[in-house]
Amino acid sequence: MGLMDKHQKLEKNATLLLAAAFVTVTIGGVVEIAPLFYLDNTIEEVDGVRPYSPLELKGREVYVREGCYVCHSQMVRPFRDEVERYGHYSLAAESMYDRPFQWGSKRTGPDLARVGDRYSNEWHVQHMIDPKSVVPESIMPPYGFLLDREIDPDEITDHLVANQRLGVPYTDEMIENAAADLVAQATEDGDWDGVESRYPKAKLGDFDGDPSRLTEMDAIIAYLQMLGTLVDFSTYQAEENFR
Ligand code: HEC
Repeated sequence: MGLMDKHQKLEKNATLLLAAAFVTVTIGGVVEIAPLFYLDNTIEEVDGVRPYSPLELKGREVYVREGCYVCHSQMVRPFRDEVERYGHYSLAAESMYDRPFQWGSKRTGPDLARVGDRYSNEWHVQHMIDPKSVVPESIMPPYGFLLDREIDPDEITDHLVANQRLGVPYTDEMIENAAADLVAQATEDGDWDGVESRYPKAKLGDFDGDPSRLTEMDAIIAYLQMLGTLVDFSTYQAEENFR
């Protein structure tokens, strides 16, 4: 009996085919999944990646609440057209503290994984108030109301605690200082050196253009301005991280 005939037997017998398919898929599954149990960590750690500062974390919450992910992804894929448009492709480590992740697959607007430092704070405020005033063909909805929503700094502490329980390495010192750090980052009023030592590369400033108020606009712009800026790609070498 030739190979073809044997295969014909398999194809004509549904039960046999099912059993054979099951065995094949099981072997494939074991080969793929079993090694993962022997690795301590499936994410290569990368220099520069750190937990979000309290103000950035607040901004991230506003981002998720407002559903920005419905139109924006946060993952630069490793293809030439994407890398030329947005910058270095995203690394797994860059979203290791994201709960939930914001990778996304829908891009009505551009990818935002590397939008940090690309525009001024003033540009962002204007764009959020009235997207068409800076990008005439924009179909992004306006979010000016974020300027009217003040933040209660004390609320952020619980969010850091929750993240810590989920494995994000917030230290007790970070949690103790969370509310003060949130205020300091957005108003330059407070222990700025402390913020910078706890959250390297955090940006200091009055993000929403009104130094007298602490608003959700401050938070979301602080978040947008840090996206993709933590890893220094002028020194980053992928090979080093795959040893
Ligand atoms: C209905 C879809 C839609 C939603 C929802 C949306 N955007 Fe956009 N966004 C766009 C489009 C389209 C553009 C490109 C035109 C422009 O710059 O306005 C854009 C552009 C941007 C840009 C400029 C990006 C760049 O590289 O030029 C930023 C920043 C941005 N959006 C942030 C946000 C944030 C933050 C939210 C949530 C509060 C949000 N967007 C919600 C559609 C959307």
